[in-house]
Amino acid sequence: MLAALGSLAAALWAGLHLKTLLLAAFIFLCFLDYLRNRRPKNYPPGPPRLPFFCMFFQMDFEQPFGIPLRVRLVEKYGNMVSLDLGPIHSVLVTGLPLIKEVLSNPDHGVVNRPVVPLRKLIFKRSGLFLSSGQEWKEQRRFALTTLRNFGLGKKSLDERIQEEARNLVEAIQEEKGQPFDPQFKISNAVSNIICSITFGERFEYDNVQFQELLKLVDEVTHLEVGLWCLLYNILPWIMKFLPGPHQTVIRDWKKLKMFVSQVIENHKKDWNPDEPRDFIDAYLKEMTKHTSNLSSSFDEENLVCSTLDLFFAGTETTSTTLRWALLYMATNPEIQEKVQAEIDKVIGQSQVPSTANRDHMPYTNAVIHEVQRMANILPINAGREVAFDTNVDGYFLPKGTMILTNLTALHRDPKEWATPDTFNPEHFLENGQFKKRESFLPFSIGKRVCLGEQLARAELFIFFTSFLQKFTFRAPPNEKLSLKFRMGAVLSPVSYRICAVPRE
Ligand code: HEM
Ligand SMILES: *[C@@H]1O[C@H](CO)[C@@H](O)[C@H](O)[C@H]1NC(C)=O
Ligand SMILES: *[C@@H]1O[C@H](CO)[C@@H](O)[C@H](O)[C@H]1NC(C)=O
Repeated sequence: MLAALGSLAAALWAGLHLKTLLLAAFIFLCFLDYLRNRRPKNYPPGPPRLPFFCMFFQMDFEQPFGIPLRVRLVEKYGNMVSLDLGPIHSVLVTGLPLIKEVLSNPDHGVVNRPVVPLRKLIFKRSGLFLSSGQEWKEQRRFALTTLRNFGLGKKSLDERIQEEARNLVEAIQEEKGQPFDPQFKISNAVSNIICSITFGERFEYDNVQFQELLKLVDEVTHLEVGLWCLLYNILPWIMKFLPGPHQTVIRDWKKLKMFVSQVIENHKKDWNPDEPRDFIDAYLKEMTKHTSNLSSSFDEENLVCSTLDLFFAGTETTSTTLRWALLYMATNPEIQEKVQAEIDKVIGQSQVPSTANRDHMPYTNAVIHEVQRMANILPINAGREVAFDTNVDGYFLPKGTMILTNLTALHRDPKEWATPDTFNPEHFLENGQFKKRESFLPFSIGKRVCLGEQLARAELFIFFTSFLQKFTFRAPPNEKLSLKFRMGAVLSPVSYRICAVPRE
């Protein structure tokens, strides 16, 4: 009896003890959270920071990264709004003057890249996209010089794209005007350009292994902004043990990295330092120059990550833009006709389009710009991170703050565009001449501006004019094409089928 009572008391005590302990731990965590979440003086205003266990109620999982759009942020808080995405403290910037100031004034040092746990797992902090500081400067400078040596801004780049455009046109001809989904042919062709520059090879459109890789790129692009990856980035130490789409993304990234590593290993086997064939060869040579310098960033990890960055960034963005372009042509037949008339006048049917034609084709050029404005594939740009404490427009931005810029607001600003929500190439024309617009920043601005802008613009022009030179794009009979987008790190159209009707 006494013994039983004794053990009951012990159990009670233990239970109480546990509860007290848990309660104490909870209060302590809240206190830590409170300390961590205190906003510094003059920090931009925004929705209140909730304690860590409540923050999910604030998020909107229909939006990339769960950004809470349900509140009208700009109306309520102004052009600099602080948003806390879990442990990530970010500020969303709206309006051309402030965006220009934040992204391109070196005094503010908004030149670093935020590193979320999922990307860190794959890239550490290496490569072109995720690196910061001296390492980024070295990698970026080298990549730019090398891309230039292998054709950027030279005739040979045009030739690479022209040859690929010819192959793609032939592949589309095989569809004989019947409805087809152009997605993976286009992404294969676009990817072949960056592959030929970095790996020294292109891949046939029926290469099963390469098509698999393109599917991984597509899958990563769409899953990475979803709920599961967001949760992983907030609570990696828990999520890494749970199954879910975030595990698929991690697996996909690892496969893509493995593919690049294998290409690099193959290069090492028949590498001749005196005759660099491509980006990888040039990088291997650069590494030998820095072998004795331990603080140099030209190492194996940066080689793999920079190459993977070029492959990834050089594939999805441009091919998605081209898929939007076909949709906008099929849904705006009068505009498509005008582009074709300009092609017939300036290039004709026998010549292959080249970037030299662009200056003589203001209408086509305006249409491509309008496609990029409407498609707006990176609506909040790529995130940046503040490198040192700074003040912008009277607000204090501490080192480490993530900066997002609202490109949608810029590209759809009713004060800037005559018909902001309608496809209208006149936005980029004045008296029949092409007109540049300041509120058009699909490639961003500043020191970290898209590294492939020139390449992407050449690709968009040559592929697009080659398409319209040979085909008229139409919705399949009795079908209506949708301009809805599919959520992802890059906003792409929902899959569609289209008819490429040969012209005469
Ligand atoms: C229509 C096509 C493209 C669009 C709209 C686009 C857009 C962008 C944007 C908005 C950024 C972020 C810039 C910033 O942080 O301010 C970026 C970065 C980057 N892009 Fe592109 N891009 C395109 C095509 C390409 C291509 C073809 C390449 C291949 C070379 C490429 C390589 C990169 C790289 C390596 C970065 C990271 C640069 C850095 O962090 O220093 N992009 N791109
Ligand atoms: C070593 O590399 C660092 C970083 O790239 C550079 O600043 C430094 O000048 C290099 N030192 C030598 C001796 O080359
Ligand atoms: C960006 O601006 C657009 C247009 O003003 C708005 O609809 C959207 O909610 C804004 N995005 C964010 C993340 O606040």
